[in-house]
Amino acid sequence: MVNVAVLVSGGGTNLQALIDAEHAGLFPNARIVLVLSSRAGVKALERAEEAGIPTTVIAKDDYPEDEARADAILAALEGAGAGLVVLAGYMSILPVRVCRAYAGRLINIHPALLPRHGGVGYYGLRVHKAVLEAGDAESGATVHFVDDRGVDSGEIIAQARVPVLPDDTPEALQARVLEVEHRIFPEAVARLTAKATQ
Ligand code: GAR
Repeated sequence: MVNVAVLVSGGGTNLQALIDAEHAGLFPNARIVLVLSSRAGVKALERAEEAGIPTTVIAKDDYPEDEARADAILAALEGAGAGLVVLAGYMSILPVRVCRAYAGRLINIHPALLPRHGGVGYYGLRVHKAVLEAGDAESGATVHFVDDRGVDSGEIIAQARVPVLPDDTPEALQARVLEVEHRIFPEAVARLTAKATQ
């Protein structure tokens, strides 16, 4: 059984998709054992609590130093026995030490077709604004491994495409992309944990 830790910062619709997928039996070899948020009071934490999943908050304000934040995050992940760490709308940059400790077992979802519109400063609605400003005909979502070389730079695991429509707003495009995120993210967790033994 693979213990999955999900890192969040906001609304948590991807977390909800993962919880629903676990309940539906999509990844029988994995269970979500911890939800770690970079912000207190967010909807994602409510979703975790409703599902009976332990939560913790490790905010940059409380741990301004990278090293202390890395220690706190690593202690939480190790305490939960995490075998897979999933960034689901985690809007903080993970300390490099955490990336290294979980290399190959750390994945992220990004709301665009990487390598387009990724990297520092590209998160949430900003990504969709950039896609519209670039005049792209399509966008989508990417699940990828997180490495210690950069932001959104790791090996791609899965992508799904959506069209960009003529009258799109960033919010409308975000909603269309979220629909495919909610499909490919649980599928990626299922694939990555399929070979684990009970
Ligand atoms: C999602 O669109 C996710 O891809 C994006 O933030 C949103 C979180 O929504 N992540 C990033 O931009 C990371 N660079 P959610 O909290 O409802 O899952």
